[in-house]
Amino acid sequence: MHQKQRYTLTAALPYTNGPIHIGHLAGVYVPADIYARYLRLKGEDVAFICGSDEHGVPITIKAKKEGITPQQLVDKYHAIIKQSFEEFGISFDNYSRTSAKIHHETASEFFKKLYDNDKFIEQVTEQLYDEQADQFLADRFVVGTCPKCGNEESYGDQCERCGTSHNATDLINPKSAITGAVPVLRKTNHWFLPLNEYEKWLKEWILDGHKEWKPNVYGQVKSWIDDELKPRAVTRDLDWGIPVPLPNAEGKVLYVWFDAPIGYISSTKEWATRTGKDWEPYWKDPKTKLIHFIGKDNIVFHCIIFPAMLKAEGSYILPENVPANEFLNLEGNKLSTSKNWAVWLHEYLEEFPGKQDALRYALTANAPETKDNDFTWKSFQERNNSELAGIFGNFVNRVVVLTNKYYEGVVPNAGSEKHEELNLIKTFADEIGTSIETFRFREASQKLIELARRGNQFLQLHEPWKKIKEDPEVVKGIMFTALQLVAALAYLSEPFLPFTSGKLKKTLGLSDLTWDEIKISSDKFLLDTGCQITQNPEILFPQIEDAQIEKQLEKLEASKKQNSADQAVLPAQKPEIQYEDFSKIDLRVGTILSAEKMPKAKKLLVLKIDTGLDVRTIVSGIAEHYSPEEIIGKQVTVVANLAPRELRGVESHGMILMAETPDGKLVFVNTDCKDTPNGSGIS
Ligand code: 2FM
Ligand code: ZN
Repeated sequence: MHQKQRYTLTAALPYTNGPIHIGHLAGVYVPADIYARYLRLKGEDVAFICGSDEHGVPITIKAKKEGITPQQLVDKYHAIIKQSFEEFGISFDNYSRTSAKIHHETASEFFKKLYDNDKFIEQVTEQLYDEQADQFLADRFVVGTCPKCGNEESYGDQCERCGTSHNATDLINPKSAITGAVPVLRKTNHWFLPLNEYEKWLKEWILDGHKEWKPNVYGQVKSWIDDELKPRAVTRDLDWGIPVPLPNAEGKVLYVWFDAPIGYISSTKEWATRTGKDWEPYWKDPKTKLIHFIGKDNIVFHCIIFPAMLKAEGSYILPENVPANEFLNLEGNKLSTSKNWAVWLHEYLEEFPGKQDALRYALTANAPETKDNDFTWKSFQERNNSELAGIFGNFVNRVVVLTNKYYEGVVPNAGSEKHEELNLIKTFADEIGTSIETFRFREASQKLIELARRGNQFLQLHEPWKKIKEDPEVVKGIMFTALQLVAALAYLSEPFLPFTSGKLKKTLGLSDLTWDEIKISSDKFLLDTGCQITQNPEILFPQIEDAQIEKQLEKLEASKKQNSADQAVLPAQKPEIQYEDFSKIDLRVGTILSAEKMPKAKKLLVLKIDTGLDVRTIVSGIAEHYSPEEIIGKQVTVVANLAPRELRGVESHGMILMAETPDGKLVFVNTDCKDTPNGSGIS
């Protein structure tokens, strides 16, 4: 009898200030889901917990921007995010939200217990204050230079470039994100968790006790501890969040990073209430394994601050592991919500309906497990077309089609003709299992494809299509073996490709098995002789066409253009001039009669312009933007009375007006004056 191991798996609570994108999926939710699904198949007792992180400054900033209340904002995005998770098959046992009553109660009680047990230091300190906005500048309400890496756009609580988490007062040259004002210092009292008091314990627990944690996680924790831990404020002067549950704490709320991880506990409570379970063993039984799935920017909170909170509380278990991932980039650039440089999950599904598994697979096969990685649409297409369709789908399809052709879909009797490839099933189930258990999901996904590849090789080697006439008994053995491999793929793909696995199980008429039951023995198979499989199987992985990929790339190109337009730094206005000054400039309509490249000058074209007054030579710096041929005959605006200037030995008599587009292209300031003769004045 299998002794069930209890697991509490948490996936970072996403901020509810926007929808989620592929970076979230790749870094946190797909790996967590693979792990959860695998453990369930292993027959373990799993609580897979998540929810929306609905407090914090980014929510209030976004709500203001959208002209709605913070509650309306989180209601909107909570619904969108929750739906995306469901659509992508992220199999949370519970998805809660931190604005829920149960969470407010749980977080308040937690704070109160720490307060009652003197775990906080209460201190009046000087904090940044925006006198124009009349409020304290917590966290993202303030930006400035990171004291650690020099990033000029660091937030008050965390620098997104180097990942350091700091106090707002540590910022160099701080500025209010609300008004742009330089903040002043104003006294206010807060409660601090003295992290320094946990230093020795953290060293023993993680640095000595968890050397097996991923190097990126262990390394970050070590550098934090080596850098000296300081007390951290766990309250803020804000009006959005969980009110500090103490008298005389008006206008103060819990710091979002204090309440959010407690959200894991409240979400577990919500789940237990809903399903009639007891939540406490999932958080308090030392035999339970607690595992946090997060992105690298959350490491300090999950490995240092939250564990210190749990330790201070005293009755909770600590994480067994925190398998944080690095970041995913998109087409060579950092994913960014504000720059719309992202693949939003809800938009993906509009473009690629039913293709959740293709994305899950591409993100797993290329997961940023040990370093930042890049998602490209081309590689996504390649993964779908060559690996999923070309190897996995192809093997399944060949076996299903041949079984229908030879045996009308009935699994044949192999007699004594079984093949040693049947042993691959146990080997791969064990290997994939080990990879998943050690958080090597990329490797696990590649082993799954490898099993399908071996299936194809098996068919190729035995060529049943050549033997069916003269040696039908031998073919029965081949097809029986191949069918077992296909069935194994149906089961073993479940953690990675849950939708495909479901379809395939339906095609083959398979019932549910545990991971260990998949490992067949010599007298027990996945598909018994006589079983009937479907005669009209669905195509598992339709091809992704070039045109679909082009469309996505164009969409990104449009975001890029928009961004450079938004970011274009406009030169400051020049000092005022009088009309008399302006009227000194003689602007005329002219036509380019000829154009030639200036020898040995990359940027210059030598133009002959008919100005109406004369035909003159003008040297213009547009050679990198136009070829001579394409501008001959063009009407342009000429500054006619500019003093002549020699450029590379050619005298230039005037200048042509050009404007620069956001992406740096020079375009003619056209006169839109087809009927205006050369020489007409412009005023
Ligand atoms: O980085 C984020 O998106 C945070 N909202 C993660 C919170 S995880 C937790 F502790 F709740
Ligand atoms: Zn930094």
